[in-house]
This record gives sequence, C-alpha cells and structure tokens, in this order.
Amino acid sequence: MNEEKNKQDLNQKIITKLINVIIFLILIIIVLVVIICFQYSGSKKTIPLKPNMSALVQDTLTDNFWKAPDTSLIAGEKNAEQILYGKQLIANTSFYYGPKGTLQHSSNGMNCQNCHLEAGTKPFGNNYSAVAATYPKFRERSGTIESIQKRINDCFQRSLNGSSIDTTGKEMRAIVAYINWLGKGLAKGTKPAGAGLKDLEFLDRAASPDSGAKVYGLKCKTCHGANGEGQLGDGTNQFKYPPLWGHNSYNLGAGLYRLSRFAAYVKNNMPEGATHQKPQLSNEEAWDVAAYVNTQIHPAKDISKDWPEIKQKPIDHPFGPYSDDFTEKQHKYGPFKPILSARKTNE
Ligand code: HEC
Ligand code: HEC
Repeated sequence: MNEEKNKQDLNQKIITKLINVIIFLILIIIVLVVIICFQYSGSKKTIPLKPNMSALVQDTLTDNFWKAPDTSLIAGEKNAEQILYGKQLIANTSFYYGPKGTLQHSSNGMNCQNCHLEAGTKPFGNNYSAVAATYPKFRERSGTIESIQKRINDCFQRSLNGSSIDTTGKEMRAIVAYINWLGKGLAKGTKPAGAGLKDLEFLDRAASPDSGAKVYGLKCKTCHGANGEGQLGDGTNQFKYPPLWGHNSYNLGAGLYRLSRFAAYVKNNMPEGATHQKPQLSNEEAWDVAAYVNTQIHPAKDISKDWPEIKQKPIDHPFGPYSDDFTEKQHKYGPFKPILSARKTNE
C-alpha cells in the first residue's frame, strides 16, 4: 500500500514540476515577444538601419538628430591616416589649395568647413551625413548621375571659385574616405534628421536687400567686414572670418548664391554660435540678409550648361530662362509662394 502511495506521490510531483517548467517557458516566450516588439517599434521611430550597425547608429542620435560618430574612433580604422587627412583637407582647405596653398593655388582661400561647419558634422550646419548613403545620384543641375567626387569638385569650382582636383588623387580619395566614414551605418538612400540644411519657410513678400543691409550692419559686419571681405587670422594666410562677397567669395554658380540656401544656412548657424535649437535671426532677417549679400558682387561663372531641363530649375534660381512667366527678379528675391503654386497647378 505504502509503496503504491509513494509512487502516486512521485507521479504527482513530476506532473507539478512539469507544469511549473511549462509555465516558466511560456513566461519567457511572452517576455521575449514583448522585448522584440518594443525594439521593433523603437527602430521605426528613428531611421532605417543596417541590422549589424544598429547599435552604432543608435549611439549617434541625440534628440533624434544625427550626431557624427566620435572622431576619436577614427584611430581604430584600417585607413585611419587617410580619413584624418580628409578631415584636415576639409577643415584647412586653404592651407593646401588657397592662394598660397602648399599643393596648388587653385581656390579663393576659403575652407570647406566655412560652410560645412565643424568639418561637416554640425546638425543643419550643412553637414555631410547623407552623402555616403545618397550618392551617386541624379542631379538636376548637371542633368547627370553624379558621384561624390563630382559633387566635391562642384564645390571646388563654385563655392571655392576654383578648379577641380584630380578625382583619383590622394587628396580626393582622402576627402571621400572621411565623408564615407561620417555617413557609415546609414542605410542606402536614407537621410537622417538634421542632414544638410534645414529649409526655411518662404515669406509672403519679396526678400528686401534694404532691410538686409540693416541686419548686416548690426549682426554680421563686425566679423565679415564692412565690404563683406572677411578677415584673415593674425599672421596667417587663412581667413578667421570668411568673405561673403567680392573676389574671394563664392561665385554666382554656388549654392549659397540662391537665397533659399543662404537663408537656410544663416538662420541656423549665424551669427557664429547660432544653432537650429537656438537660432539668433528671425526668418525675415535671414531672408533679407540673404538678399542683401547676394545683391553684392560675386565672381562670375559660366553656368550656361546648368539645369539642362529648364522645368527643373529651382524656383529661387536667379538666372533665366524659365519655364514660367515670372521675372528673374522674382525668381531671385521672391515672393516665392506664387511661383511654387503656379508650378504645382502646371504639373
Ligand atoms: C561657400 C560655401 C561652401 C563651401 C566653401 C563649400 N561648400 Fe559644399 N556645399 C555648399 C552648399 C550651399 C551645398 C548644397 C547644400 C544644399 O543645397 O542642401 C553644398 C553641398 C556639398 C555636398 C553635397 C551634400 C549633399 O548632402 O548632397 C558636398 C559633398 C560638398 N558640398 C562638399 C564640399 C567640399 C569637399 C568642399 C571643400 C572643397 C565644399 N563643399 C565647400 C556650400 C559650400
Ligand atoms: C562672431 C563672428 C561672426 C558673426 C557676427 C557672423 N559670422 Fe558668419 N561666419 C563666421 C565664421 C567664423 C564663419 C566660418 C565658420 C567656420 O569656419 O567654422 C562664418 C561663415 C559664414 C558663412 C559661410 C561662409 C562664407 O563666407 O560664405 C556665411 C554665409 C555667413 N557666415 C553669413 C553671416 C551672416 C549673414 C551674418 C549676420 C547675420 C554672420 N555671418 C555673422 C563668423 C561670424
């Protein structure tokens, strides 16, 4: 009898244990499902990532805006020397290519970094975050598919009012390596929040060079000079404050010569120290100062081959011909909203 009871007890114990194990397993499965769901919804809020890079990129987002990877990590890369040289070329372009450059005298003496702030890493400071993931790409300005190298040489020719550099040379390879390093981890075709420049809302009126002159006198002149000529650093050939117009500035084929690009840049970055979280200019001031600076003289550039498809010219491209009936003046200073809505109805 006792033996029979012991057997039954043992069976009961085994069954209870089994049930416990099953409940435990079910709990684990539920917890796992919850964790997976949570991670999935979290990653949807940010940006598409390559799976193996997700940890790295999560690290590089602050307040959901792109933050450049930590440059001290470059030292651990196989081609660290090349990447660091690329960063140097962007920060001190004029040392290599300026009027007294050590490699070539082929630019106006500005640095890439004057416009691509903090070596192309500042959110909405015209940074390079999206470049690696979005080039090569078709660009309407040239009507061709452009490589990163071609796009870089565009800035050499226009923003630096200079000549192209050898696309296969050591310097170009270094600049591309640095830009690719900055954009690593972003899935092909994606643009992180904070990339490039932040478009500024259009005004309901034309931008006013006269009002802009007042803004310039109050908020820009101390650094950029009464004649927009900039200032060289003490005892150097490099600009401490880069020029905004005149023969050392960007030419009229450059991005900044379009009011929307200039206004977007200064709104979130100027006077020095402004950020997109803490801008110092009102939208009106940004548009008006853009109008003032781009009414001053800039070096010429043959842009007759730009925008082969006239319909694709940006609405603020200040040179005709156009596919609409608005004047060059309105395309330069605005108001832009009527041009935009006329385009939309014609589409
Ligand atoms: C005078 C200002 C200025 C200077 C100097 C300048 N750039 Fe640019 N760059 C721009 C502007 C403006 C754009 C277009 C931004 C836009 O439309 O969003 C641009 C765009 C670019 C792009 C494409 C960015 C993208 O996301 O598509 C690259 C790459 C680039 N520049 C590289 C360089 C390099 C390298 C140098 C130095 C050799 C340089 N730039 C110097 C103003 C400048
Ligand atoms: C306190 C000095 C200071 C003031 C004031 C200032 N800037 Fe700048 N600006 C700079 C510096 C420095 C750079 C280059 C940034 C770099 O290389 O890191 C720059 C760069 C620029 C650039 C791009 C490079 C170029 O020369 O084309 C533009 C455009 C510009 N500033 C416009 C303005 C405007 C417009 C104002 C007034 C609203 C203004 N800045 C006020 C210091 C200043």
